[in-house]
Parts: sequence; structure tokens; C-alpha cells
Amino acid sequence: MTERKTKLTIRGLTKRYGAATALDHVDLDLTDGEFLTMLGPSGSGKTTLLWSVAGLNHPDGGKIWIDGRDATSVPASGRDIGMVFQNYALFPHLSVSENISFPLEMRKVSPRDRSLAITRALEMVKLEHVGDRFCDQLSGGQQQRIALARAFVANPSIILMDEPLGALDKKLRDHLQLEIKRLHERLGMTVLYVTHDQEEAMVMSDRICLMNQGRIEQIGTPDELYFQPKSLFAADFLGEANLIPSRITGEEAGCLIVELLGMGTVRTRSTPPRPNGPNVVHFTRPESIAIQADAENKANRLYGHVSEVVVSGAITKLFVHVGDALMKISLLTSVSQRVREGERITIGWDDDVGRVLSRSQKEAA
Ligand SMILES: Nc1ncnc2c1ncn2[C@@H]1O[C@H](COP(=O)(O)OP(=O)(O)OP(=O)(O)O)[C@@H](O)[C@H]1O
Ligand SMILES: [Mg+2]
Repeated sequence: MTERKTKLTIRGLTKRYGAATALDHVDLDLTDGEFLTMLGPSGSGKTTLLWSVAGLNHPDGGKIWIDGRDATSVPASGRDIGMVFQNYALFPHLSVSENISFPLEMRKVSPRDRSLAITRALEMVKLEHVGDRFCDQLSGGQQQRIALARAFVANPSIILMDEPLGALDKKLRDHLQLEIKRLHERLGMTVLYVTHDQEEAMVMSDRICLMNQGRIEQIGTPDELYFQPKSLFAADFLGEANLIPSRITGEEAGCLIVELLGMGTVRTRSTPPRPNGPNVVHFTRPESIAIQADAENKANRLYGHVSEVVVSGAITKLFVHVGDALMKISLLTSVSQRVREGERITIGWDDDVGRVLSRSQKEAA
């Protein structure tokens, strides 16, 4: 396999607004053709990072390289970048075709090639018939597709998308998610994407970058972020988790012996970062826990009473009282074995699915 080249390199990127630090020494590398999604709470710096890469703001520190060239001081128009933002303003006084033509004109593409590229771009987003309309004669979803076409048309080396589907209804969002994914697979450009929708991030991305207060909290594949969070913040931010106050009481054969306070003792593979001190939080995902016969051969087994059964289509959620704590368990309805509320059940999980996390950010540092 050939090593993919690096498309974008960011080192020490810092951006302040008055006393507020929007980006705090961010380091990030994107390989050519990668789809990377930024996730994080409101105000964590996602948009600021995209604007810095686009050249739309002026960083207070750090450097950005695109294709190995220092782009830190290159103006937006000199960077080979396409952009789609939430409610991104198409030019209302121009027709759809003129809008899509804009990045081509900026790049001084000949009129003949422009016309071909516009036709192809409109076909790509299945809006061949609207080229002559003005943008304000299109629905919100159609406008967003035109914005996509405009971002892709000049085949830029990087495409930045800031919540491009945020304002759309679920059905259109699902459809455009697929469309963007297909375009990315077909055209192979590098994508830096922002969304608030965790599912969207998991479905679309090669890697997810989780931001917290202007810093990268964790970066990795969707699977790594979901099942192997490195901090309480990451565990808590993505999806649902069982987070149980716990104490490390020993270590044996690569496993930590962990007392889940008020629940019982389990073994958990020791993985970095190792928390300082014995007081920790034990993490499992609801879907990592088995019940009844499936739990019997697991390294960790506990016993509890079912307090609530919630069937929502293909997934059944159980809330199980184990000692003083309530564990959430998520099962396929087809294997949930029709447990009933009040029933005593065995729950279990392997020693490599739980994780031990520092109780506070400070301890983890
Ligand atoms: N033009 C600006 N002037 C002053 N402060 C700003 C400006 N733009 C952003 N900020 C601040 O910088 C921080 C990061 O903002 P940013 O827009 O990057 O967050 P975000 O992660 O994109 O949030 P959201 O999910 O709400 O879009 C916030 O504290 C924000 O208030
Ligand atoms: Mg934003």
C-alpha cells in the first residue's frame, strides 16, 4: 500500500478574540482524501478552525501548510479550497449557473470548460433543470445542493463544510449525507466537516476530531472515539455511557482490579492514559454489556434487577439496578430474551470493553 501524502498540516494554531481563546495551540494533520469531522460543544472552536484553514481569519499564532506549502499568510482567494457553510449565502442576484461558475471564474477557467463543469456539477447534485433560475427561486434543500455543487465544481484540494445540513429536515439530511459521501468517494478530495449530529459524524468520517474549549480533546476513528474514549469528557460527549464512580484496588496480569462503588469488583484491561490516583470513573457503553446466558462466559459478571424495559423498534434498552447503581444496557430486540421488569438478571462484559477514566480533566493532565 502506498503511503498517502499529507494534505493539510496545522501546528500550534491559536486564535484569540479579546480575552477569549477560540483556538488554543491546535495541531492537526489531514491525509490526502481523508474525511475528517470536527465535533464538540457550541463555542469549542470548530468554525474558527475552518475559517483559519480557509484564510478568512487571522491566527494569533501557529502555522498552516497545504500540500506542504506554508499557507499561513496566503489570502483566501489564493488557497485551493471549496466551502459550504450552514445557510451559506449563494449570490441571490445571480442564477444558479452563475453561482456555480464563480469559483471557476476565480480560477480563470475558459468559458467552454466552465460550461462543461457547470453541467457536470448540476448533474452531480441532480438539479440539471434549475441552472437558469435565481437562487431565491429554490427551496432550502435545493440551495444547499447548489452550494455543494459550487464547492465541488472546481475540484479543490480541500473542501470545508460547516454544518452544511444543519437546517434541513431529516429526510433531506439523510439523502444529502449519502450524496456527500458518494461525491467524496468518487472525487477523492480532502474534507474537513463540522456537524452537531453525532450519528452523521460516525457515518461519514474516516476520523473524528473532538474539540473542547479550543483544544483537541481526542482524535481517532469513529470506533476509537466511541469505544475507547480517553477522557470523561469524550466518554460523556458521545452517545450514552455507564459512568460509575470507582476505585482501583489492584493490578493483575495486565488488568486493573476496579471496585465499582456500591456495585462490585471487575477487571479492566489497563490502557493508557493511566489515571493518577485510585479514584476513577469506570466506563462502559450500553451496547457492550451482555445479559443472561450471553453474560455467563464474560470476564466480568454482576447481578441486578431489571427496573425498566424500553423497546424502541430494533433496539431494546434495559435499566438494571446493580447494588446502588443503575446500568443502561442496549440490546438488539431480537436477542433481548424478553426480560421483564423486576426480574433478576446476570449482566456481564469482557475485560477489554470497560475503561478507567480520570475523574476530572485536571487529574488527566
Ligand atoms: N468574531 C468573533 N468575535 C468574538 N468572539 C468570537 C468570534 N467568533 C467566535 N468567537 C468566540 O470564539 C469561540 C469559538 O467559536 P466558534 O464559532 O469557533 O465555535 P463553534 O465550535 O463553531 O461553536 P458552534 O457549535 O456554536 O458553531 C466562542 O467562544 C465564540 O464566542
Ligand atoms: Mg460553529
